[in-house]
Amino acid sequence: MFMVRVLIILLTGADASIGVNYGTLANDLPPPREVAEFLLHSTVINRIRLFDADPQILRAFAHTGIAVTVPVPNDQIPHLTNLSFAKRWISDHIQPHFPSTNIIRILVGNEVISTANHLLIRNLVPAMQSLHTALVSASLHRRIQITTPHSLGILSDSTPPSSAKFRQGYDTHVLKPLLSFLRTIGSPFVVNPYPFFGYSSDTLDFALFRPNPGLFDEDSKILYTNMLDAQLDSVYSAMDRLGFSDVEIVVGEIGWPSNGDKDQIGVDIATAAEFNKKVVARVNSGTGTPLMPNRTFETYIFALFNENLKSGPTSERNFGLFRSDLTPTYDIGILRPTVRTSNPESNPRSPVRGSSEKRWCVTKPGAETVALQRNIDYVCGLGLDCWPIKEGGPCYLPNTVEAHSSYAMNLFYQTMGKHEFDCDFDKTGKITALDPVISL
Ligand SMILES: *[C@@H]1O[C@H](CO)[C@@H](O)[C@H](O)[C@H]1NC(C)=O
Ligand SMILES: *[C@@H]1O[C@H](CO)[C@@H](O)[C@H](O)[C@H]1NC(C)=O
Repeated sequence: MFMVRVLIILLTGADASIGVNYGTLANDLPPPREVAEFLLHSTVINRIRLFDADPQILRAFAHTGIAVTVPVPNDQIPHLTNLSFAKRWISDHIQPHFPSTNIIRILVGNEVISTANHLLIRNLVPAMQSLHTALVSASLHRRIQITTPHSLGILSDSTPPSSAKFRQGYDTHVLKPLLSFLRTIGSPFVVNPYPFFGYSSDTLDFALFRPNPGLFDEDSKILYTNMLDAQLDSVYSAMDRLGFSDVEIVVGEIGWPSNGDKDQIGVDIATAAEFNKKVVARVNSGTGTPLMPNRTFETYIFALFNENLKSGPTSERNFGLFRSDLTPTYDIGILRPTVRTSNPESNPRSPVRGSSEKRWCVTKPGAETVALQRNIDYVCGLGLDCWPIKEGGPCYLPNTVEAHSSYAMNLFYQTMGKHEFDCDFDKTGKITALDPVISL
């Protein structure tokens, strides 16, 4: 069967994908609309995390399909325990943009436990509960998750990984209720592991996934060969100790600067490229970690841009994958060959929704197989749901590149809002009003 009418398109955490943190502490960044177009057309980045619920940015990502995570600032946490306030927050910041902007998650506060501000810490879980209730009232809770990101400062001790625990006091008073809530609503636990902030000259190779003597965990008898595995397994052990090993882990921030102060070792373009490239490969590989085998981790690289207004050491301003003119600081394999050649001038993205009539995108007769394979790789690489054309899936047969490509291209076309240009695919697609299932 040729299942082309699949309209339920979710960018799920289970699929390989690449996220970035879109920080904007800079005075030289391109307009959000340009950024959104660039990410959509020129990179395989399919998720972004914002640091500010900026309406201009939220509008810029409308109709791109890119999954967007929206933050709530720390100072709003005490107010959000008030349900009417939480409802207003959702109606002011989320509802004007959803579903045209693919908002998938709200992060309540940022590394709240590390602030040591008891007013915020005490109100964190109640604020999350209240926001969730507000989402339920708006019938958005099945589409938008609520969670909060943590630094590894939540661990009291992380060596060896198998003995890691959350900091005493916070473990039972905050993290346990938090994990319990996340489990109930099916949201992930978000952590920001930064091997960059954990290495010394002795452990640089360990941090960079290079050959090194490793870290032997006497208790579990596991030899850790890289710092990220050790950090993630420490988080896992601490969660497991409280009985929450089943809650999914998302890597909210991870990165390496490409420029630092003179005395800093391991800080240059080549090292940043090496680290980020290995991280992207690692988290998507399905290798997992010693305690979490065969998993992928939804991961957000820090950061999209160098941010020239950040304070602190030079490295703080140089975490960006891209410069402000959208040229890559270095390439980690996230730029993609242009699938669609149509340039924006000759083919403007319409702000209105495309055709609402029944239309399908299929392969043009005579299109080259390599181009069609590229279409499949592109669409499925975005994280769209391609399982029906995998072996055993309902649309696997006929097992031809042409049929699979039609499926993938149509999936993309339907997801992106059925604009004519969503079926261009470098002139290998055509829109048809004939239902391909019937006409087969
Ligand atoms: C709760 O929030 C609403 C709406 O912002 C506000 O009018 C009300 O005064 C708040 N209640 C309390 C107890 O702060
Ligand atoms: C992980 O995958 C390997 C290879 O496919 C398999 O042998 C192993 O049983 C899997 N482990 C778990 C825990 O699923």
